[in-house]
Amino acid sequence: MTRDFILSGDEAKDWETLMFLYESALKKMNTKIEILKEEFISVHKYNPIEHVTSRLKTPKSIVRKLKREGHETDIVSMQQYLNDIAGIRIVCSFTSDIYKVADMISSHDDIKVLLIKNYIANPKSNGYKSYHMIVTIPVFMSGGAVDTKVEIQIRTIAMDFWASLEHKIYYKFEGKAPEYLKDELSECAKMINALDDRMLSLNEAVQELDGSEDE
Ligand code: GTP
Ligand code: MG
Repeated sequence: MTRDFILSGDEAKDWETLMFLYESALKKMNTKIEILKEEFISVHKYNPIEHVTSRLKTPKSIVRKLKREGHETDIVSMQQYLNDIAGIRIVCSFTSDIYKVADMISSHDDIKVLLIKNYIANPKSNGYKSYHMIVTIPVFMSGGAVDTKVEIQIRTIAMDFWASLEHKIYYKFEGKAPEYLKDELSECAKMINALDDRMLSLNEAVQELDGSEDE
């Protein structure tokens, strides 16, 4: 049995407890992903995960987002409306790895998938591609387990490269980048897609060769 986070009425203490939950959820997810990776390497002699980063949203950024979306800035709203207080980014080599990793995570009994946004099948108009999952993972506290939300973004190295630069440009121009930069980013997104496709085909061809050599 898991329970929702219970408010004690003491804002400061509740805030601390809540952030502790998100921090613990991140640690648990990071460990889970690390074990998945080790196990996958040992069974398949192949590493689907290049690297993993994680971050907790800062209090300033939590308040800014709640205000921007027109919500109260309290801890009830935080839990209800924000899905990305605990965030993990998994960077894979190939597009096919993204779905493997997503399936492996979703198949764990303690993980509940709340929402999937597949920006790989449906890229954003600016060219952004990535696979997003909002999941919960139970964190065991003295009063019982609390299902805690974590946003997981899974993308290839190339998609990550593109998203980092797009993010930098977006913030530099506060969302109003000149058209020629947007066009250039859009062109780069196409090149990134083509590169991902070719690298995947190349890797598949090499794997087939490996397989035939083993026979
Ligand atoms: P927020 O964008 O966080 O308010 O959530 P949302 O409900 O719009 O979810 P979405 O899945 O669209 O985006 C969540 C996160 O994905 C963002 O916080 C970014 O980290 C990343 N992201 C989404 N769209 C873009 C994009 O166009 N460019 C870049 N660089 N990152 C993006
Ligand atoms: Mg968004």
